[in-house]
Amino acid sequence: MKQPTAARKAAVAAARAVVRKLNHRIARRTAKVGIIGLGYVGLPLACLFAEKGFPVTGFDVDPKKIDSLNAGKSYIKHIASKRVAPLVRAGRLAGSAGFRELRKMDAVIICVPTPLTRFREPDMRFVVATAETIANTLRPGQLVVLESSTYPGTTTELVKPILERGGLKSGRDFLLAYSPEREDPGNETYGTASIPKVIGGDGPAALDVAKNLYDGAVVKTVPVSSPEAAEAIKLTENIFRAVNIAMVNELKVIFDAMGIDIWEVIEAAKTKPFGYMPFYPGPGLGGHCIPIDPFYLTWKARAHNINTRFIELAGEINTQMPRYVMTRLADALSRRAGKALRGAKILMLGLAYKKNVDDMRESPALTLIEMLEEAGASVSYHDPFIPRIKPSREHGALTNRRSVPLSKARIAAADAVLIVTDHDRIDYRDVARHAKLVVDTRNALARAGIAGEKVIKA
Ligand SMILES: NC(=O)c1ccc[n+]([C@@H]2O[C@H](COP(=O)([O-])OP(=O)(O)OC[C@H]3O[C@@H](n4cnc5c(N)ncnc54)[C@H](O)[C@@H]3O)[C@@H](O)[C@H]2O)c1
Repeated sequence: MKQPTAARKAAVAAARAVVRKLNHRIARRTAKVGIIGLGYVGLPLACLFAEKGFPVTGFDVDPKKIDSLNAGKSYIKHIASKRVAPLVRAGRLAGSAGFRELRKMDAVIICVPTPLTRFREPDMRFVVATAETIANTLRPGQLVVLESSTYPGTTTELVKPILERGGLKSGRDFLLAYSPEREDPGNETYGTASIPKVIGGDGPAALDVAKNLYDGAVVKTVPVSSPEAAEAIKLTENIFRAVNIAMVNELKVIFDAMGIDIWEVIEAAKTKPFGYMPFYPGPGLGGHCIPIDPFYLTWKARAHNINTRFIELAGEINTQMPRYVMTRLADALSRRAGKALRGAKILMLGLAYKKNVDDMRESPALTLIEMLEEAGASVSYHDPFIPRIKPSREHGALTNRRSVPLSKARIAAADAVLIVTDHDRIDYRDVARHAKLVVDTRNALARAGIAGEKVIKA
């Protein structure tokens, strides 16, 4: 049998020492946790680690977020300042003044965006920039975890070589893992602490320490064999949603034509105690995950000469939904009021991509406004969570449009009210009472017990 060389023995001893030290600090809650990217994922994660007793430092390129955090103020609607402020006051959570502070961290967790480029390919700029920033101050004994949703191979093929540029080795000098974020903003049943966390380590030592760290914060950890497996798991979860939503959107179109209510079908179908899981139709996909992540796999699969046909088809069907909604709206206006879409006044309710959140990324509402205005309608919107449309690459022309107040007079003045997002805060009875016509893409009125001639589902 081949004897280990002295160098190999030294490497193993070094790795063991890193693991021992980090695990010791994690057990005593003295391990310093740095979170890079304090958005919808990073901020609640930072709060969670601080609540569990770890000293946490938040890093972000946006100085406004750092200032706000240090003032104990949340800048995300569903994360209360009263959750943030006591952690800041207690000295357990702080925004960092500069990225050199990363060197002091025991664990560095990356939660930066992973969008698509204009050509619908993975835009890895933020991950690469962050890896380069970490590499500048990387020291032996640190754990680095990537949480951003991404294609299988990102951690070991993209992030690891950048971190190793200075000569330190993953698994020997520092530890590297991937653990996908499963945050569901606005979900009142499951939050960061109660969602099990999948972890794949670049080697057993990384898995051991990363598991230990997250065990100190979340209800359950699910170790898997590699970062690639963990990356694939995240994409599988989101592709599962995208494909099922597409299927139910297609069924909606078919059943509409047959005069069958898709919502009634789903309500009854979900009483089957096995083999069925409800997904709901809507005006199109939105948010930072479901419309985007599947295409990370499509891109990577191309390198293996494989076509992702289910994903492409689901994308095609889901992308068609705003157009379908517009057709239903035009049809309803014409049949019910003898009106054309051109010149019609449309009041859109809800702009966020889903209910009760202030996130408008990829929201189909934005596409709908553009399409309706292109067709000659005049559109105003009301969204209690989005007072103003923020700049976005694809819908730049809508920047700074403002939510209008929701008054009886405004509802009555619209030729049609179009419900795109079913925020709980809207009084749907009032809407139904005063509107001439309501086109409902979320079944919000029926759920509020309101039916009638002037309500059309789309
Ligand atoms: N939002 C969700 O519900 C959700 C759920 C699961 C997974 N994810 C994934 O988590 C990741 C983050 O998503 P998010 O919704 O929190 O994004 P976000 O845009 O809300 O936040 C990202 C933050 O990263 C900061 N940032 C960008 N580049 C940086 C850099 N180089 N250094 C430091 N900070 C930088 C931005 O200023 C921003 O504050 C994405 O990969 C996303 O797909 C998001």
